[in-house]
Amino acid sequence: MNILLTGGAGYIGSHTCVALQEQGYSVIVIDNLCNSRAVSLSRVEEITGRPVIFYPLDLCGREGVRSVFKRHHIDAAVHFAGLKSVAESVEKPLTYYQNNIDATLTLCEVMKEHGVKNFVFSSSATVYGNPETVPIKEGAPLAPFNPYGRSKRFIEEILTDLHQSDSSWNIALLRYFNPMGAHPSGRIGEDPSGVPNNLMPYISQVAVGKRPELLVYGDDYPTPDGTGVRDYIHVMDLAEGHVRGLEKTMSGAGLTTYNLGTGKGCSVKEMIAAFEKASGRRIPFKIAGRRPGDVPAYYADPSLAEKELGWRARRGIHEMCADAWRWQSMNPDGYPS
Ligand code: NAD
Ligand code: UD1
Repeated sequence: MNILLTGGAGYIGSHTCVALQEQGYSVIVIDNLCNSRAVSLSRVEEITGRPVIFYPLDLCGREGVRSVFKRHHIDAAVHFAGLKSVAESVEKPLTYYQNNIDATLTLCEVMKEHGVKNFVFSSSATVYGNPETVPIKEGAPLAPFNPYGRSKRFIEEILTDLHQSDSSWNIALLRYFNPMGAHPSGRIGEDPSGVPNNLMPYISQVAVGKRPELLVYGDDYPTPDGTGVRDYIHVMDLAEGHVRGLEKTMSGAGLTTYNLGTGKGCSVKEMIAAFEKASGRRIPFKIAGRRPGDVPAYYADPSLAEKELGWRARRGIHEMCADAWRWQSMNPDGYPS
């Protein structure tokens, strides 16, 4: 079976390439490399010993996308491509809406032209906004509060309308919690450009000596140690969740929505301690003010994915930190340019 991965050269996409190839799928990647490097795909090939077919194309360009569908029989698409920085989305909302929504519309239109109607979408737990209660179930109210999160919600609604108009579409909306870690080989991992916004890549860069200290954004939250609590999920667990989501979709499941998280919360201070243990390095940190837009605590109720996909996250925080550290220490400057 041929699976199209849009954004497949990126962090989650490249790990999902590995998981799919290991299950015998052939992968075709479209990525415009606006936030990734093609070398990630060469490393996927090195890990799996199987070829990745790669098209360096912008998904918003209809003719380019059409040419890929004309050249290959495609059974399903996993749609990772999108811009993902919350802070940047506040500064450039039009860029975010244009890229994320236009890319999705173009992809769906070309899929429809070719009768390909199995679709897995990278949504985000950010669609829940500041949840009323935790753990969060899929039926919780949606209230994203920044343009990035709203672009995910709008796309979920577009895909829901598409399914309503034609029930032969099978669409899985996968709401990820906080992905971290790397493939255990240390050959692929998260390679943020510039100063990382997210906790794990920042801690890794402090550990490897690229940054002097971590700023902990707030220790006065109503959480056990006062720091923010999140549901960190190993990127390989997430990748395996995509394989299950894809299989469910291809079995003719219609429109489905799943949280992909571990169901366990971990605080910033707990994460620092776990990373120090895994790396053997000290992580100097300083308590700073709260980051605007942050919520105190969120973590998933992942029971629906377990029940319907037979999937659950298997790797714990120690393994996530050990794998993140292996990637960072083997590739202190990320992928070679
Ligand atoms: P990433 O930036 O590493 O990967 C996204 C890829 O999409 C990049 O390789 C980029 O070059 C490509 N891309 C962007 N716009 C494109 C376009 N118009 N045409 C072709 N390629 C394009 O990000 P990631 O962390 O791997 O995230 C993958 C998806 O998962 C994104 O949609 C993101 O919003 C979503 N997500 C990520 C997280 C997270 O914390 N990493 C959490 C929840 C959801
Ligand atoms: C952030 C985004 C979210 C997006 C997710 C993608 C914001 C407000 N939210 O989520 O929409 O889906 O990334 O992964 O940007 N922290 C520090 N110091 C740092 C970085 C983070 O203390 O240098 C803390 C944060 O305050 C938070 C926790 O670490 O409590 C996790 O932060 P982060 O990795 O940025 O993820 P989210 O805030 O959950």
